[in-house]
Amino acid sequence: MITSKELRSKWLSFYESKGHVNIGAVSLIGDGTTGVMFNVAGMQPLMPYLLGQPHPAGKRLCNVQGCVRTVDIESVGDATHFTFFEMMGNWSLGDYFKKEKTAWSFELLTEVFGLDKDKLCSTVFAGNESAPRDDETAQLLIGLGIKPEHIYYLDKSNNWWELEGTVGTPCGPDNEWFYPLTDEECGREHCDINCPCGRYVEIGNDVYMQYKKTESGYVPLENKNVDTGFGLDRMLAFLNGLKDGYKTDLFSAVISYLEQASGKKYDDGGEAQKAMRIVADHTRTAVMLIGDVNGILPSNTGAGYILRRLMRRAVRYCRALGVDGKEMLPVAKIFIEQIYDEAYPLLPQKEDYILAEISREIERFESTLEKGMKEFEKTLSGIERKNEFMSKQDPAYVKETKIGGKAAFKLYDTYGFPLELTVEMAAERGYTVDEEGFAAAFKEHQEKSHAQVSAGEFKGGLADTGEATTRLHTATHLLNAALKQVLSPDVNQKGSNITPERLRFDFNFPRPMTQEEIKAVEDLVNEKIKENIPVVFEEMPYEKARAEGVVGVFDSKYGDVVKTYSIGTFSREMCGGPHAKSTGELGHFKIVKEQSSSSGVRRIKAVLE
Ligand code: ALA
Repeated sequence: MITSKELRSKWLSFYESKGHVNIGAVSLIGDGTTGVMFNVAGMQPLMPYLLGQPHPAGKRLCNVQGCVRTVDIESVGDATHFTFFEMMGNWSLGDYFKKEKTAWSFELLTEVFGLDKDKLCSTVFAGNESAPRDDETAQLLIGLGIKPEHIYYLDKSNNWWELEGTVGTPCGPDNEWFYPLTDEECGREHCDINCPCGRYVEIGNDVYMQYKKTESGYVPLENKNVDTGFGLDRMLAFLNGLKDGYKTDLFSAVISYLEQASGKKYDDGGEAQKAMRIVADHTRTAVMLIGDVNGILPSNTGAGYILRRLMRRAVRYCRALGVDGKEMLPVAKIFIEQIYDEAYPLLPQKEDYILAEISREIERFESTLEKGMKEFEKTLSGIERKNEFMSKQDPAYVKETKIGGKAAFKLYDTYGFPLELTVEMAAERGYTVDEEGFAAAFKEHQEKSHAQVSAGEFKGGLADTGEATTRLHTATHLLNAALKQVLSPDVNQKGSNITPERLRFDFNFPRPMTQEEIKAVEDLVNEKIKENIPVVFEEMPYEKARAEGVVGVFDSKYGDVVKTYSIGTFSREMCGGPHAKSTGELGHFKIVKEQSSSSGVRRIKAVLE
């Protein structure tokens, strides 16, 4: 039995003994340079160095790096897929190459981990128009003692490694290592590394990164690099003779907890086993993403949306297991306190925060989950009834098996079901979802809410149109114009809320305003108040408003008529009103607070005295 902690340290000390410097791990959140949202490979943060920039720690590096890959999220639930995993890596940046790398991988596998060289298998690149067949590696492997019949030449889809969807990134042919989990052949004719029975597992790979991927093809890099990656989670299972990655010490405490909470047995297999795996995997990834140095939170966009999807999927599988979504919390605690406390010391430090954020997301989802499930069932039974009815009318009727885009959007918008969750639930029942229809409904909704904002319907919660709110509403227009003048013409309204006591105005701006800027804005607004400018209402075609530079959200259709309010030439906005008759009614304007609202968005609270 080898533990995860032992495996990490064996990896690092082996490569340190070969002159490598342990550079430690970096954030799981992508730095934006490759357009990849999460760190998906150990090499990702090392990209500039693989392309030739000198690394401050030298030419031989190693580490254990957390990675998040969510492309296979639907496969999670089987024995070997994870959305978070750790990659044990080592690199040569233009230093040693194939001779040393094959020898060290061989030494590590056979001497440190005790694998039998007569059973080790390797796959190498078969060659194509971009790069030659890798006979050199094959010969080196045979020289080390690997049986020639255990070496396979495979094509680019197997033995070429690159970061998919990127250009300008390093890549190259690789050598993958395979080993049989048992000596028992499955009975098929060739029970080798390609056999579907899964007797052989891939334990890791050495990439010979000597090319750069460009728009027009692969060009040789000046440096010949090595990029090695062995997945810790898989390797741990394999070294312990386990087919199931959830049986290792990275998960066993969590699985035991879920067994006890649900009263079900993991080893009984089936849906309960699948649910336990999904809850365990997704909770682990959520802990890692929230607890990261650049931690993120669930949201409706980008990486935050993926996190939300994972967490909501976990809640749903808690339910499938017959436990409350809140059971994610003790699971998260086990990961933080018992499993990753040493390798990720930031997790115990951020524990309260991580648990609080998980708990909030569960609450947000659970409050609508039951209703959403009912809505989902209602949609399905609607389709079924229609199918039944139509089939009676016309025996040749082709039954509908698609859930409409509007229905899927309602589940998203009203009940917080990520689209992918609806798609997955539908698939479980033999249905698909009209995803294009969903996108259209989404867009329509966005346009409608923008139009309402620009027509002033939602602006300032103006249900209350008393005099105080009306005056503050006009002051909001002056403030909007003054901010553009003082800070930048690119400043735009991001939100507004008005009560009889104060106005609140959100706008895009990357930093806090200085005292001088706040004063300049106040002075400008007060100047316009003193000038006692009439506020003029006018309806005009959308196109005209747009052409004349009226401020507002321009997403109406051609031919629409919009309402505008002008305050001299200082401010012209599309807006539904109501407003003060002239600025002289407003009194003295004062900003009482300037603070952050969200990333890149500032918030001002102001009053009229
Ligand atoms: N970059 C290689 C991988 O991630 C080592 O598998």
